[in-house]
Amino acid sequence: MKVLVTGGAGFIGSNFVYYELKHHPEDEIVCLDKLTYAGNLETLKDAMNNPKFKFVKGDISDRDFIFDLFEKERFDIVVNFAAESHVDRSIEDPEIFVKTNVLGTTTLLDAVKKFGIKRFHQVSTDEVYGDLPLERKDLFFTEETPLHTSSPYSSAKAAADLFVLAYHRTYGLPVTISRCSNNYGPYHFPEKLIPLIISRALNDETIPVYGTGENVRDWLHVEDHCSAIDLIIRNGKDGEVYNIGGHNERTNLEVVKTILKALNKPESLITFVSDRKGHDLRYAIDPTKIETELGWKPKYTFDTGIPVTIEWYLNNREWWENIINGEYQNYYEKMYGDR
Ligand code: NAD
Ligand code: DAU
Repeated sequence: MKVLVTGGAGFIGSNFVYYELKHHPEDEIVCLDKLTYAGNLETLKDAMNNPKFKFVKGDISDRDFIFDLFEKERFDIVVNFAAESHVDRSIEDPEIFVKTNVLGTTTLLDAVKKFGIKRFHQVSTDEVYGDLPLERKDLFFTEETPLHTSSPYSSAKAAADLFVLAYHRTYGLPVTISRCSNNYGPYHFPEKLIPLIISRALNDETIPVYGTGENVRDWLHVEDHCSAIDLIIRNGKDGEVYNIGGHNERTNLEVVKTILKALNKPESLITFVSDRKGHDLRYAIDPTKIETELGWKPKYTFDTGIPVTIEWYLNNREWWENIINGEYQNYYEKMYGDR
């Protein structure tokens, strides 16, 4: 089978490339990525010499380029990870989120419609469901929870989901969607909470916590997200949505304190800063459907996944130092300078 992985030079896409090359060595993987600030060819260097792997630079919203690629390659499966993914950036500048996350997805769908395919999988997010109240620990997102977005990022992701489902119903495209909770693991861009904590703590720098730090996220190791997507693209049912999560809810403050403790760094590094606009309170996934219908089971809990992740950042300092020593410094100053 020939699999197109879009956004494969980013965090989750690259982990998926490595997961597929390891678990399905018979398949061919084509990785398409625009190499935005979040895409990094260094991340893919261990795949570059694999004869089953090919990298192509391009934009999912570039219609001519996408149609030429589909005509030439004749993919069996497309897994769409490509997106603008950071909520804070979407609050500053929503437009590129519409272009990439919505128009990019519909461009891919049009190519799938024209050239045919066995499965188009859209990598979506639990953020399309909005948030849950902090005090209602009994509530979880199911696949039936109404879409109710908060940020420009999640709104663009929800719009894309609706187009994917519309192309299934209207044109009969063989699609699936997954909505996963917060990921962490290797190759995570240090603008996001967990790699930001690890990289800053290792440099004895302050850790900015938004608001009170009481917001809750449901953390999943990226390898478990990859194993779930792998099951869906091979065994999932056309037109279906699958939630992915492992019941690992933590407040942001708990996450920060756990990592500082593991790194033997003082809690005095924690600095409370002004809250994110429209900040979602709590995410929590009910993964019953993917567990019962596809037999998915996560390998890691938060308590086992965090130590191996910290170890990865300690062993791969050059990877994240190259990022934080570049353009990222301007980003950090702009976003946090007078927060
Ligand atoms: P990321 O920002 O690390 O990577 C995104 C990748 O997409 C980058 O390599 C970037 O260069 C590429 N890209 C951006 N615009 C593109 C375009 N127009 N054409 C081609 N490539 C483009 O993001 P991530 O955290 O790996 O997230 C991947 C996907 O998973 C996203 O769709 C996101 O919405 C979804 N998701 C993320 C999480 C999470 O916790 N990170 C959880 C659930 C779902
Ligand atoms: O739930 C899935 C989503 O998880 C994905 O769809 C997004 O692509 C991904 O970025 C992530 O979104 P979040 O907004 O939850 O992740 P982030 O790492 O930006 O923030 C996690 C929590 O930590 C959130 O409550 C905001 C808070 N935070 C974040 C940063 C960057 C801080 O307190 N301080 C910070 O500096």
